[in-house]
Amino acid sequence: MANFKTLDEASVTGKRVLLRVDLNVPVRDGRISDLTRIERICPTVAELARKGARVIVVSHFDRPGGQRVATMSLRPVAAALRDVTGLDVFFADDCLGPIAEDAVARLGNGQVLVLENTRFHAGEEENDPEMARQLAALADIFVNDAFSSAHRAHASTAGIARHLPSHAGRLMQRELEALTAALEHPERPVGAIVGGAKVSTKLALIGNMLEKVDVLVIGGAMANTFLAAQGIAVGKSLQEPNMHETAREILAEARARGCEIVLPIDAVTATAFRDNPPTLVVPIGEVPADAMILDVGPATVELLKSKLPGLRTLVWNGPLGAFETPPFDAATVALAHAVAEATRAGKLRSVAGGGDTVAALKHAGVIDQMSYVSTAGGAFLEWLEGKLLPGILALQSLDGVVIPS
Ligand code: 3PG
Ligand code: MG
Repeated sequence: MANFKTLDEASVTGKRVLLRVDLNVPVRDGRISDLTRIERICPTVAELARKGARVIVVSHFDRPGGQRVATMSLRPVAAALRDVTGLDVFFADDCLGPIAEDAVARLGNGQVLVLENTRFHAGEEENDPEMARQLAALADIFVNDAFSSAHRAHASTAGIARHLPSHAGRLMQRELEALTAALEHPERPVGAIVGGAKVSTKLALIGNMLEKVDVLVIGGAMANTFLAAQGIAVGKSLQEPNMHETAREILAEARARGCEIVLPIDAVTATAFRDNPPTLVVPIGEVPADAMILDVGPATVELLKSKLPGLRTLVWNGPLGAFETPPFDAATVALAHAVAEATRAGKLRSVAGGGDTVAALKHAGVIDQMSYVSTAGGAFLEWLEGKLLPGILALQSLDGVVIPS
C-alpha cells in the first residue's frame, strides 16, 4: 500500500494543525448514544496537544445539506471531546471566515479548537476549491484521521490536501495498516463473511471478494437469493428474484476461480417476524411455504466454525441473521465467539467493519477481541469493493508536496 506520511514525519510544535476527524456520532433523544468515534480519535488529539500543536479539529456532522441546522451543531460533541480527552477544548461557531480565524488566532500551543460542522457550507460536499483554500489558510499542516469519511471527496477530506503538507493521524494509520494486512497482503488462506439483506447492494463487494479470498461465506437474507437462484424453495423469505441470474453467475465465477462459497445448510424459520415468535429449525430445502428464513441454523454454525482452523485471516461484514430481533441473533453471536477465540489464541487475524457488524459484535460482547474493528460504514464497504478512497488518495498522491493555489 500506500505511501502516506504519519505523525512520525510531522514536526508540529507551535504549528497550527488542521485535524480532520469523523465526529458524525450517533445521537438519540438529543444525546450522544455512542462515544466510540470520539474515543478513537483521542490518541491523535492527545499526541498533537502533548507535542504543543495548536489543534484545529474539523468534521461534518449528519447531513444538513449546506445550511445551518441547529440540531446538527458540533457544539455538544466538542463538549464530549473535552470530557473524554480532559484537554482544553474550545469551540467556534463557524469553520470559515472571521469567527474561525479569530478563534484560531487565540489558540495556544497544546490547546484544541473544534470548528462548527463543515457541512453547514455547501462548498464542503461540492469539494469547492475555494472552501478548501479557506480551510487550509487556517493551518500549517493537515492531518486526516477520518478513515470513515475517506470515501467522500469533500473540501475537508480531499480538496484541502492540495494546499498543505498532509499526514495520516494515528487512527487513520491503524485503520490502513489493519485493512492492508487483511486484504492487500493477507496471510492465507483468507476468508470473508458477507451478510446483509440484499445481494444488489453488495455486488461490487462480492465481486472483489471472489478475486481476493479463498473462502466466501454468504449469510443474511442475501443467502436466500443464492439458494432460490439454485431452485431451492425458501418459502416467504426475503430474497431478490431479479438477482437470480447474477447469483448464478457469481457461483460460476467462484467455481472458475477456485473460491469456495459457503451457503447455509440449515435455517431458523418463523411465520412471523417479531421478537421471540415460535421457530422451526429445518435443513435447507425443507423451508415450509408459509415460513421465512431469519437466521442460519445450528448445523451451519458448526460448519462455519469448522472452517475457521483452516483460515489465517478473516474479513467480516454483515450479520448472518436478523440479529436485532431475538432469537435470530444466535448464529451471529455463536460465530462471533468462535472468531474471538481463534483470534485470542493467535490463530486468526480478524478484521470486521460496517455499521451492522459493529453493532452485532458489540451485542455479542466481543468487539474488543477482534484483531481490528473499523468504525467506518460506507468507507469500509467501498474499501472492500476495492475502490480507491478519495480521502486516502489525497494523502498519498501528492505525498505532502505543497501545490501553490
Ligand atoms: C459515516 O457516518 O459513515 C461517515 O461519517 C460518513 O457520513 P455520510 O454518509 O453522511 O457522508
Ligand atoms: Mg448519520
